Amino acid sequence: MKYIIGNWKMNLGIRESVALARGVIRVLRGKEATPEVVICPPFTALSEVSKTLARSRIKLGAQNCGPGKSGAFTGEISPNMLLDAGCTYAVIGHSERRHFFGESNQIVRERLTATLKTKIIPVLCVGEPQSERNTGNEENYVIDQLKSALENQDWPKRQPLLIAYEPVWAIGSKESATIAQILAMHTFVRLMTKKITGFPDQGIKILYGGSVTPDNAYEFLRESEVDGVLVGGASISIRKFEAIVQSAGDVISAQI
Ligand code: PGA
Repeated sequence: MKYIIGNWKMNLGIRESVALARGVIRVLRGKEATPEVVICPPFTALSEVSKTLARSRIKLGAQNCGPGKSGAFTGEISPNMLLDAGCTYAVIGHSERRHFFGESNQIVRERLTATLKTKIIPVLCVGEPQSERNTGNEENYVIDQLKSALENQDWPKRQPLLIAYEPVWAIGSKESATIAQILAMHTFVRLMTKKITGFPDQGIKILYGGSVTPDNAYEFLRESEVDGVLVGGASISIRKFEAIVQSAGDVISAQI
């Protein structure tokens, strides 16, 4: 199974979100070989988009998830609230949260722990900044993120363990990582995740994110090391998102 996750970030109001969600439904209509498609609109649009997606195969995701069940966490949305709004997935530890809003490894862990107590499936984001790559320290940096988030977590065995490898320098930069860099890091992240969690191989899914476009999606998705892509900018263009979903469909069809 391949995953295509669209992260709409801080874009689109409720009406625009519903319109884009309808577009995504049309993209999948009638197609048989399709990936798991997840769209992550802003919080304000979740509820309406959930109604739009009701009878479709497309899943709803949130862009973050609160660190507790309820209580004094001003500005946060709990995992149960996300379930209530119709979400199946939640992105956690996105680099924009870590770098613009100071979310530490510890906060990311707390968010993950809270999410794992519910049916929401977390998508944990990891990835190194340019300075770490320049000094050849990308593996050490990412392993700290993985260890801090995953060690001694109670992961429901029926859920996949989804990790998005997103090098910070590739996000929104129009310069994706090279296929060689992606394969090296995915192999490493998969191995480390298995070591840290003891999770079975087939349950660990490693997605790539960072300037994924219709021009490079097929090259990434055809690799068995790449279980999917997390798409930012290109996910709010229906034409581009359709082409990326189509690339995943082509890879799946070729494997059948
Ligand atoms: P991008 O964003 O596709 O615009 O680089 C990816 C992400 O932030 O997940």
